[in-house]
Amino acid sequence: MPLFSYVKGSILWLDAHIFFNINSEQEDLIMSVSRDQFNTMFGRDPYSIPLDEFDMNQPELFQSNTQDAYFKRLREEAPIHYCKDSEHGPYWSVTRFKDIMEVENNPEVFSSEPSIALADPEEGFEIPMFIAMDEPKHGDQRRTVQGVVAPPSLAILEPVIRDRICEILDALPLNETFDWVDKVSIELTGQMLATLFDFPFEERRKLTYWSDVATAIPAPGELIESLDQRSEILLNECLPAFVELWNKRVNEPPKGDLISMLAHGKETRDMDPMEFMGNLILLIVGGNDTTRNSLTGGVTFLNENPDQYDKLRANPELIPKMIPEIIRYQTPLTLMRRTATRDTVLGGKNIKEGDKVAMWFLSGNRDPDAIDNPDAFIIDRKLPRQHLSFGFGIHRCMGNRLAEMQLRVTWEEILKRFEKVDVVGTPERAYSVLVRGFTKLPVQLRPIAK
Ligand code: HEM
Repeated sequence: MPLFSYVKGSILWLDAHIFFNINSEQEDLIMSVSRDQFNTMFGRDPYSIPLDEFDMNQPELFQSNTQDAYFKRLREEAPIHYCKDSEHGPYWSVTRFKDIMEVENNPEVFSSEPSIALADPEEGFEIPMFIAMDEPKHGDQRRTVQGVVAPPSLAILEPVIRDRICEILDALPLNETFDWVDKVSIELTGQMLATLFDFPFEERRKLTYWSDVATAIPAPGELIESLDQRSEILLNECLPAFVELWNKRVNEPPKGDLISMLAHGKETRDMDPMEFMGNLILLIVGGNDTTRNSLTGGVTFLNENPDQYDKLRANPELIPKMIPEIIRYQTPLTLMRRTATRDTVLGGKNIKEGDKVAMWFLSGNRDPDAIDNPDAFIIDRKLPRQHLSFGFGIHRCMGNRLAEMQLRVTWEEILKRFEKVDVVGTPERAYSVLVRGFTKLPVQLRPIAK
């Protein structure tokens, strides 16, 4: 008996509320008011701005990659900072490594509900997904699917992923400019997602597309122009495709892909459609942008630091140490939000019940009290895993080993084939606060001289 034979028309929640920063009311506001109203810091000297005017929730800062100096000032002068007014209302910014750990280690006080984005979910349209749940439900659901990224599954997946990476790399043009984001990073993460979901391989770009649609900020001329358009695409294209796969898997014996695990898992097989879709989107988005942007980040950072590239080529055994350094340096998700469940004190500041608290991983990863010389990209650090890019505690990224494996195998295969991946133009960055990413990276490949 299929779990769902129909889908409620009201699943219009499938949009940026998932991870992200807006609901439709706020969208209207964004459309009707110039960005300038929110854009109060971009282009200004961080030391000339009064601290009580600081609001880091500004995509312009991240798109221009100028955020670091603002975070530095916060870490030094206001490490637990209260922003009294922003696009998403008031919120605290936590910018030091040790304070972020304190928040992560206290999930009873700092809840992941109702949202891990600064924006609240739109009332009546909440999307249940375990990243935004507290115990015990979070743990029950996480345990059901985590087998797919546990070491035994990864051992099976690695040769499959390696074959696919080799195919992608072997098809690339030599000595000719192309976009690394499109031809390598997106293609590779799309293939990996299709493998994890056992999704029809030839239709894999749909997964990337739906992930992009789910997380895009609607704007004229952009991927989606309105929240309605997003809902329509996800409701009419994404949801039916996954419902069909669910219905197929539920009638087959259990196997190792994520949909089968969800369809047969004790804690997930009775999920309502909202929860099913929420968790699917979590897995698609979670594994898509993050790995994709780390792949692009690696090429960018090695080009910006030619001494590190030389070191790597002279000693490819450094790859396993370099991968966590790329992930730290990139920090593909800049923040996670928590909400205080009671009055509490953090770093000497009084946080009130209900207050929003942003843990800025990107800032914690540049904290000199926790990481030596944090602004430098160094591929052979002593403690490369000392970073916050995967979060910490009970919500620590479920796919972290999978992501590292995928990046490691990619770099192993790149070094076997190419003398250099040369960046030949300016990288273009995503207009987003939460997802720190690239939209374009022009490169040329230099083959190894025979
Ligand atoms: C470089 C790649 C990746 C980065 C930087 C990253 C980052 C993160 C972060 C910051 C969190 C929230 C942690 C917290 O709140 O403390 C998270 C959670 C999660 N990630 Fe990843 N992620 C990556 C790759 C992946 C992949 C490949 C998957 C696919 C399986 C995945 C699935 C998840 C899931 C399911 C969660 C929710 C965990 C929970 O709430 O218990 N991630 N990730």
